[in-house]
Amino acid sequence: MLITWTRTHGRHPLAAAPAADKDVMETTIMSGNIFDEILTLKSLFINKEVLRHSYLPNTMIHREEEIESLSFNLVEALKGHIPSNMILYGVTGAGKTAVTKYVCKQLQMKGEKIGRKVFPVLVNCRQIDTQYRVLAHLSNTLLEEFEAPDIPFTGWPTDRVFKELVKRMERRGGVYVIILDEIDHLIKKAGDDLLYNLTNLNSELNEARACVIGISNDLKFTDYLDPRVRSRLGQQDIIFNPYNAEQLQEILHDRAVEGIEENALSQDVIPLCSALAAQEHGDARCALDLLRVSTEKAEKESAELVEKRHVRAAQAQIECDQITPVIRTLPTQQKIVLAAVMLNEYNGLKNIQTGEVFYIYKQACTRVGLSLLSARRVSGLISNLDMLGLITANTVSKGRYGRSKQINSCLPDNLDVKTIMSNSESVIADVFAHSYKHQSRL
Ligand SMILES: Nc1ncnc2c1ncn2[C@@H]1O[C@H](COP(=O)(O)OP(=O)(O)OP(=O)(O)O)[C@@H](O)[C@H]1O
Ligand SMILES: [Mg+2]
Repeated sequence: MLITWTRTHGRHPLAAAPAADKDVMETTIMSGNIFDEILTLKSLFINKEVLRHSYLPNTMIHREEEIESLSFNLVEALKGHIPSNMILYGVTGAGKTAVTKYVCKQLQMKGEKIGRKVFPVLVNCRQIDTQYRVLAHLSNTLLEEFEAPDIPFTGWPTDRVFKELVKRMERRGGVYVIILDEIDHLIKKAGDDLLYNLTNLNSELNEARACVIGISNDLKFTDYLDPRVRSRLGQQDIIFNPYNAEQLQEILHDRAVEGIEENALSQDVIPLCSALAAQEHGDARCALDLLRVSTEKAEKESAELVEKRHVRAAQAQIECDQITPVIRTLPTQQKIVLAAVMLNEYNGLKNIQTGEVFYIYKQACTRVGLSLLSARRVSGLISNLDMLGLITANTVSKGRYGRSKQINSCLPDNLDVKTIMSNSESVIADVFAHSYKHQSRL
């Protein structure tokens, strides 16, 4: 321990301290720095960045067909023609963003080499999620280097921003490939006006040309589109199928060669990471996370070899990291319903019925002074928890007694749900602090 903290002082050493204490603190800190030891630990990574999502690999294996379809269409831009608009679909982690960036990088490089003006612009519609902001962002990226972005964050009428975009495209000329990543997010939030305007751009342009590529992991997002926009946008669709375990193994292998020390991975680590990610839904991002976090786990315990147990630990940690914010941000009533399920389970029950959840829910609300929802609303909240994957609520037939739900929580064992919920809202801490009468089972 580098910083000594004695109980007699009763204060953390880094908290504001009187002068005499400060001297002691400075001497102890000067004797070493908490990072000294960590920095000298041998790293199992050659370059951790290679295993991050943001890293763009030099080759994209198992996506040859998709790359070919994209490049056959976008080559038109290099000839000064208008490429078809496209929609790229596929489950999360299927390589849609990475493949598009890869193709656009090559397109831009080729354009520069042969002296053709081609400008791919990628907009992440999860971050930039209104028509105004997308148009302003596109416009501002078309400025010359010496010009400062001048379209305000809000305030102009949308058609003025659109006209400004057209003006700047005309001034520069060339072919614009406008990529709207995670487009489903924007459509659900802001409707399809933006797509209508962007797919209509060529009728406003003389010197420049434009095409639009939409990327989505929701196959049904086109249901939200006006049929005219749908047919203009989806001139060509590409589906990215999920990766299977063998394909994920090869993707991970390539990354590991660049990012992780030789011989640091035991033989079964990559196959296990790939198998687990393939079980999820063939998500390359998930496979990369598993490999990175397992290597970090091994590194932390100064192990020289990453083993299967590190992958298992990484899987548990990633799962907890994903579920914790979901639980923490549930609305209060939803949390009380989840608490009611858990309180039944703490009492030793399995296959809990809706009535048993409602019985505890009612007592909990009364104890903490919250208004009661009807049994029907609580049943809806139970279905929501099921949809979020926090519980399973299976409907079973009870013959002539009708149907009922069998509810069980499905939270990872190593997750302290009670503490997470209690820390998120004091009223939930109160719910857990009381004792409850349970319904007797026949
Ligand atoms: N064929 C591949 N070769 C190498 N790396 C890949 C390949 N496919 C995906 N990856 C990597 O997997 C990660 C996830 O890919 P990407 O972000 O492209 O997924 P996505 O389909 O856009 O997912 P989402 O729908 O969630 O945005 C990235 O780090 C990417 O580099
Ligand atoms: Mg993506």
